[in-house]
Amino acid sequence: MPVTIITGAQWGDEGKGKVTDYFTIKSDAVIRVQGGNNAGHTVVIGEEKYEMHLLPSGILHADKPALIGDGVVINPGVIVQEIRDLRKRGINCENLKISPRAHLIMPYHIALDEMREVRPGKFHIGTTKRGIGPAYADKAARFGIRMGDLLDRGEFELKLRHALSEKNVILREVYGHPGCDPLQIMDEYLAYRKELAQYIIDPLPLVREMLACGKEILVEGAQGTLLDIDHGTYPYVTSSHPIAAGACLGTGISPGSINRVVGVVKAYLTRVGDGPFPTELIDETGNALRVKGSEYGTTTGRPRRIGWLDLVLLKYAQQINGFNDIVVTKLDVLDDLDEIKVCVAYKYQGETVTYPPGDLGRLGEVEPVYETLPGWKKPIGEINKYEDLPENAKKYIEFISNRINVQISNIACGKRRSQMIPVEAVLHLAVKTKYITATESITKRSEKSGK
Ligand code: GDP
Ligand code: IMO
Ligand code: MG
Repeated sequence: MPVTIITGAQWGDEGKGKVTDYFTIKSDAVIRVQGGNNAGHTVVIGEEKYEMHLLPSGILHADKPALIGDGVVINPGVIVQEIRDLRKRGINCENLKISPRAHLIMPYHIALDEMREVRPGKFHIGTTKRGIGPAYADKAARFGIRMGDLLDRGEFELKLRHALSEKNVILREVYGHPGCDPLQIMDEYLAYRKELAQYIIDPLPLVREMLACGKEILVEGAQGTLLDIDHGTYPYVTSSHPIAAGACLGTGISPGSINRVVGVVKAYLTRVGDGPFPTELIDETGNALRVKGSEYGTTTGRPRRIGWLDLVLLKYAQQINGFNDIVVTKLDVLDDLDEIKVCVAYKYQGETVTYPPGDLGRLGEVEPVYETLPGWKKPIGEINKYEDLPENAKKYIEFISNRINVQISNIACGKRRSQMIPVEAVLHLAVKTKYITATESITKRSEKSGK
């Protein structure tokens, strides 16, 4: 029962769209697992660029089912627009199925997200203001409205009026917002229903049937491990589980069916929104990488914050997700650098440690310890064999693989679908890493303190 999960290993925007599209070539179906239109996944085929916020990146493979799982929160206006845009470009989307259990993002979710973000005080997150947090909060509170409810006008209206009897009080009393008009929402959402009804079909029976026949299912994660609501840099996280384990929750596929977890790792590091970022580069190098890597949010257009690759966090992501292998993306963006720094440890509370603080929210208190590697100073975008990469580029890749003890299966050296180097030679050199384990470090500390 071969299921492969594509998971972001960092703070999102690692290139999951490109990797999903590439892996879909060898899969029989793709299912998007969580998040909403906070995500922006880019696929470039030749000169054509596609930006997907809700549709699975595999939708471009018209002969393969493209599914949206229960864990996704859906703004129906956004998905309708995405479908229309793709149709204009000759992609008919007939392969799409949307789970009736996926929750709807409602106008009051978006209003609440926006209002909370502009509220005076220090408690803003830097969200995408797409209503993601409030929609997931209602889901957990069993107050949400689901895609399936759209199909039943009476049920939809009842739930909407019930929700608004609370939401409008909060919007008006707490935020001075005029509130939302039920009739206007009814009109708007029932118009979306006309376009979406044909796609609202439970995808699970198909997934189970395909698995029973030994077909390959690809699970497309959104966001990234460090944005996980439990395991990320809380509270500067999203409101879902963008880790490998979330793939089972958001699709209904059992853990026993998963046979491969692929981590997508950008060759440096970016994040959008607020929150700690130990290796952040607020200097010329950071600016140059932002420009060369076009590091502006696919969803909001915000400039992404840039930093050196952080192997302490990558090792942590490896522990949480159990990557079988990783795909390193955007290696070409480092082409011009004389030297490249990599964070290999932190100074934290007077000690050198190789794991993050138990509460990742305390990441702002660590100081990175770097190793410096030489750059390769050559364009690598047109290289398609691992052995043809410059020696220093290979050294960089092997350094990552050795230090986190995970095999690298592919390297992306450009935006286009064709710019992907499969790594034939197994880059899992089993060199004893310099990492000490958390247990070793705790033992050392207790020896020092005599306990
Ligand atoms: P996602 O959210 O993880 O799917 O990533 P995004 O699509 O938001 O951001 C990744 C950006 O990098 C997109 O503009 C991609 O077209 C681009 N990209 C992906 N892989 C590469 C690569 O190897 N090299 C370069 N230069 N750009 C890439
Ligand atoms: P993809 O799938 C990068 C970030 C936001 C913010 C935090 C919370 O394209 O990698 P939210 O709107 O989810 O409540 O915002 O999470 N964030 C992302 N950052 N890529 C994403 O998705 C993101 N989705 C959410 O910037 O810091
Ligand atoms: Mg993105």
